[in-house]
Parts: sequence; C-alpha cells; structure tokens
Amino acid sequence: QEDVFKKLVAHCKEYGFVFQSSEIYDGLGAVYDYGQNGVELKNNIKKYWWDSMVLLHENVVGIDSAIFMHPTIWKASGHVDAFNDPLIDNKDSKKRYRADVLIEEQLAKYEDKIEKEVEKAKKRFGESFDEKQFKETNGRVLEYQAKWDELQGRFVKALNDSNLEELKQIIIDQEIVCPISGTRNWTDVRQFNLMFSTEMGSTADGALKIYLRPETAQGIFVNYLNVQKTGRMKIPFGIAQIGKAFRNEIVARQFIFRMREFEQMELQFFVRPGSELEWFQKWKQTRMAWHQALGFGQENYRFHEHDKLAHYANAAVDVEYRFPFGFKEVEGIHSRTDFDLSQHQQYSGKKITYFDPELNESYVPFVVETSIGVDRMFLQIMAASYAEEEMTSEDGKKDIRVVLRIPAPLAPVKLAVLPLMKKDGLAEKAREIIDDLKFDFNCQYDEKDSIGKRYRRQDAIGTPFCVTVDHVTLEDGTVTIRYRDTMLQDRVKISDLKSIISGEVSM
Ligand code: GAP
Repeated sequence: QEDVFKKLVAHCKEYGFVFQSSEIYDGLGAVYDYGQNGVELKNNIKKYWWDSMVLLHENVVGIDSAIFMHPTIWKASGHVDAFNDPLIDNKDSKKRYRADVLIEEQLAKYEDKIEKEVEKAKKRFGESFDEKQFKETNGRVLEYQAKWDELQGRFVKALNDSNLEELKQIIIDQEIVCPISGTRNWTDVRQFNLMFSTEMGSTADGALKIYLRPETAQGIFVNYLNVQKTGRMKIPFGIAQIGKAFRNEIVARQFIFRMREFEQMELQFFVRPGSELEWFQKWKQTRMAWHQALGFGQENYRFHEHDKLAHYANAAVDVEYRFPFGFKEVEGIHSRTDFDLSQHQQYSGKKITYFDPELNESYVPFVVETSIGVDRMFLQIMAASYAEEEMTSEDGKKDIRVVLRIPAPLAPVKLAVLPLMKKDGLAEKAREIIDDLKFDFNCQYDEKDSIGKRYRRQDAIGTPFCVTVDHVTLEDGTVTIRYRDTMLQDRVKISDLKSIISGEVSM
C-alpha cells in the first residue's frame, strides 16, 4: 500500500496534477502547487461542493471573506491561546515530531496487529467466519485490544488535561523510537502554536501583528450579522465559504494530506439553541451521502467519533476514507455551540443576537459546522481513482494500463478529440468539433503518436471520452467515441456528442 502511495505521488507530478512548490530551489516543506490538470480537478471539486451546499439548499448562502482579519478575532476564537500542537524532539536525529501523532501511530500499530489476526483467521475459516465472535474470544486479539484500550485511555486523558509530562511518559513507556535515529532519546514535550503571523502596515507607532487565518470559519462568524440582516435570513440558515487557510504544521510527510497552505470548504449552519445535536446528525448524514455519491465504495468510508473535543465543540465526528496509508480524516463535522459568536460578542462589544419571531425571543444562535479540505479531497479522489490494469494488446503482449477512474463530472479534461492522422482534412475536422464543444466542456486536441498511445495518455489523466476522427467522419459526419472505463467504442453522430457527454459529466 505504501508503494501505491509512492506511485500516486509520482503520477501526480508526471501528469501535471501536483508539483512541489519552489521545486527548482529544492522545494518548500509541505507546500505544493497544482498543475494544468490539478487546477481543473480542484476547481471541479469546489464546484461540486458549492453547488451541493449553496445551490441545492435554499437556506444556505455563500461569502468570500479576506484572509487577513483583525488580530483580536484569533484571541476571541481561542486560537492564540489554544491552537497548539504538542511537540517533542529526538536528541540524536534532531528531528521534531508531534507527540500526539507518535502516539496515534502506536495505536494504529495495535489496530494493524488485530487486523492481521482477523485476516489470517478469515483465510483459515473461509465462509463460516464470524468476525465479531473471533474478536471477542481470540487470545491474541484480546491482548492487543487491551493494550489499545489502555493506551487510548491514557492518551485521551493526557490530551484533555493538556498534561505534557504524561504525553512524554507515554512515549517512553511505549518504547516509541525516532524513525530516523531509531533511538528513544526524547526531549520534553512543549506546546507550539500553529498560526503564521506577519505584520501589517508600518507606522511611527509600529506595525500590527496579524495572522494568516488557520481556518475560514472565523470569516463567516464575524460576518454572521451582515449576512443575516442583508439576506433577511431566518434561522436555521447557513453560510458557506471556500478559501485558503494556513497552519505551520510539523508533520510534513504525507504529500498534500497535511500542508502548510491549503484550502477549506466550510459551512457554518446557525440553529436554535437546543436543536444543535439534531442538526449535527442531519449534516453528518448529508455529508456522508455527498462523499458516497462519488461511487468509490461505501466500505471505504467510516465515521470517527472524537474522544477529545476541540475547545469550541460539544460533539464532533470525522468522515474518514481508506487511504493507501489507512483510514484518515477527510472532513470534520462539529457542533460548535454558541462559543464563537458569544466570544465575538464579548471581545467586540457588539451585540450578535438573533430575534426569533416564532419564539418571540432573542438569542445567540448555536452553530453546526462542516469543514472539508479541498486538497485532502483531491488526494482522496486521486487515491480512489488510480488503477493499474493488466491488458493484452492486439499483438498478444502483456501490458499495464494506468487509468484514473475519476467520476466524469470531476475529470479535468472531459473530452479528447483525436484525428486518426494529420492529413486529408482530419485535423481540421477535429478542430471544428472542438470549436463547437469547447464552450461546454474542457476539451483537448492531440495528434501526436499512435492512437493507442494517445488513448493511454488520456486514461492517465482520467479523460472519460476520446473521440476519434477518421475518413468515415468526412463522409457521413460520424466519429468513434471511446469510453475510458470500459474501453468500448461506439460510432455516433457528431451532432449527438454534446448530449451524450452532457449526460455523463453534468454534476
Ligand atoms: N473550522 C474547523 C476546522 O478547521 P479541522 O478539523 O482543523 O477543522 C477541517 O480542519 C478540515 O480541513 C480537515 O478535515 C482537513 O480536510 C482539512 N485540513 C486541516 N488541516 C489541514 C492541512 N494541514 N492540510 C490539508 N488539509 C487540512
């Protein structure tokens, strides 16, 4: 599975999806640029989210707030004081790690061991295997489970108590070694704030220290009254936003999974106090349905309930996807109570209440948030779409086809138009077809190499349709359309192309 991930990273670069930032200067850690195909996929992901949240929900509207905000916002939100990671250094390798991540990796090791025992037993017992009963009775599984339970209990308590000594003690007791030096020579654990700061303006009195936003959510909270009043919004209603966020992350080993500059798609949904957990459940289901609608297999998604709640939440769950490196968070859904709005009311001195005409009373609304990273969703789609298929070519040779099975509505290029040869007016005809379709779909023209090679290049970037123009086209106005997933080909009229493709690629 690690191999698959390495191949995926290489594929992202080779086919213009993702490049290391500042590559010719040897790169900048955990910062990435999107290439010609990456930006199309990313835009399509954002549109898929925006349309499903804003267009399909009458009571959800969008905004686009600035990245720079008044610094007191981050004091009020709790980020100045509490948006920290517990860090630990290995004295031999001088490498820095997140103490919580080291412990989570240890927990994952116990989970892996349990999984391996289950897999072995499955092979042994075949059809008649009862996984639940096996887990409840097998000696080894019970031993690993007990270790997992004990470690998890200690870990959650240490996090909840912000007990840094205990985090270090867990790392020592679990005999966790530095992956680089292999030693257990650890420093103390200390807190490290994740926000980037910079200075704004330059006056005789000095400049203002401001932060790059670590989440887009606060831009929504501080605009809550503007939108509610000018949009005459009635509770329950939501405000959605897509935008960049910045975190000085320490763990920087997982490609675009954890970046220092990334993009979020967030919804803050404002509800009556007391109804938040009901809305939390609704959004949880709605968001899972959104993920599963992409067709990557229900078994690859799960909910992960939080043991430790963020400082603002009274309920929290993650949507996790089975990445090549295990189940990991793609999206967070939080019941944020009235924490943020109340804090902004207090720190700004401005009243942020809602008058509820049905209840005939004013209150500070409660908030349910859904928050998903565009980049993480991008990685999820790439991981789910990447396939290597063994094929036999016409001359009997075995070959591997690399194909990205990206759902057609999200695919960077929808259609490639390929003249069988350049001469006899085929190239001109192909251009004509593109000119007719390019306002509706992202089209690509390719005349270089054999038709087989051209198909493969399109498979590798996930193009769902290839249209080939040949001599018959000039006679009767038909082309062959080749489908990426089945590789089947049909002969269709040029005039039917738009409706055939529209049917597949519309969101
Ligand atoms: N407003 C709530 C919030 O920001 P979060 O769980 O910290 O919550 C939400 O982040 C989502 O943003 C995550 O589920 C993930 O998809 C994405 N995300 C967070 N940190 C990220 C990072 N360093 N790189 C890429 N995506 C990140």
